[in-house]
Amino acid sequence: MMSKFEIPEGLKELLQGYTVEVLRRRPTNLAEFAVQHFTQVLESQRNEQAAESQTTGPAEEEEEEDAFETASNPSISDDDEDEEEERSIVKASADRCSRRVAVCAEAYNPDEDEDNDTEPQVVHPKTDEQRKRLQDACKDILIFKTLAKEQFSEVLDAMFEVLVKPEEHIIDQGDDGDNFYVIEKGVFDIYVQKDGANICVGKYNNKGSFGELALMYNTPRAATIVAKQDGALWALDRATFHRLIVKNNAKKRRMYEAFIECVPLLKSLELSERMKIVDVLGVRTFNDGERIITQGDKADCFFIVESGEVKIMIKSKKAGQLDGVEIEVARCSRGQYFGELALVTNKPRAASVYAVGDTKCLVIDIQAFERLLGPCMDIMKRNISQYKDQLMALFGDIE
Ligand code: CMP
Repeated sequence: MMSKFEIPEGLKELLQGYTVEVLRRRPTNLAEFAVQHFTQVLESQRNEQAAESQTTGPAEEEEEEDAFETASNPSISDDDEDEEEERSIVKASADRCSRRVAVCAEAYNPDEDEDNDTEPQVVHPKTDEQRKRLQDACKDILIFKTLAKEQFSEVLDAMFEVLVKPEEHIIDQGDDGDNFYVIEKGVFDIYVQKDGANICVGKYNNKGSFGELALMYNTPRAATIVAKQDGALWALDRATFHRLIVKNNAKKRRMYEAFIECVPLLKSLELSERMKIVDVLGVRTFNDGERIITQGDKADCFFIVESGEVKIMIKSKKAGQLDGVEIEVARCSRGQYFGELALVTNKPRAASVYAVGDTKCLVIDIQAFERLLGPCMDIMKRNISQYKDQLMALFGDIE
């Protein structure tokens, strides 16, 4: 007899299949999506049973396995190839799903999401001077960095200016999400409730953005944001954020999930945690020799090398002063990370970093780093403790 707590065979796979689909398609109503998903699963099981009663040649089965491999492991490629790849991924998935939805982590094609495409385009007219200020404020916003030019331009069209006063609450934890905000100027404190008290967990200092979480995941606001002085923000409404950013995130997940899963640092994270990193990351490319990080600067982001290589250079010290001679201390290539030290120690950048050849990096901002990479902190701290040994070997005595 089955014990009361025995897990029925197939339950894990069934729930995993549903979870993968939720992560990929991010439905607004989980229950409604569950009904659709499991109905499809049931139908496909019935189809499969019917098909099994007929004869299926082994060659055909093999071909289908290949299609599935391609569907679940999209490689990273340039935009045009992407579109092509997306079409073939979706086709491969669709073909296969018509028979085997139960095991198919079907690729979501946001281009077929009619709900998204019928949303009217929002335009807030701006003066040239306003548009210039807006462009400046948005140029380093990571979640805009993977948008195509036209999408970015639509985002800018839809944004509107919000002027704020000291102590004004821009967002209150627990509220529904209305807008996403980009900071043009001003200092903003971040409060998160812990054991009934509001704890200040960080601040935005004249740059950055906030308010994406509630809109991306349909959750209540996760923090309270309070202006500390007169400030200027640019807001993007929820519907446009969904139509452009969330849609782009589905594409980003497909592009980066395979790579992110191979990054050793992130191995200890759950799949859903890794996907949240993909949602907020930006992509930056650097030419050979270009400086990515400058020693002594204030740190605001963290990097993972996607392609190419970087070299880490430290200026040697004479009598406590930097003497300007840079010495190479390490290199990082695909899958390796850099830029964490200053974020972990809260100190200025301890080294400069340069691209070796054309290099592409995934970039995560400090707030997302603190929010999402906590579980990897032990690994980073362990590696950081080795830096000191490296420097001792190179420079002798160090502070
Ligand atoms: P959202 O939950 O929509 O609204 C509050 C925002 O605060 C949140 O999105 C993030 O953009 C931002 N934020 C910054 N730091 C944190 C943090 N530690 N936890 C949660 N949200 C944070």
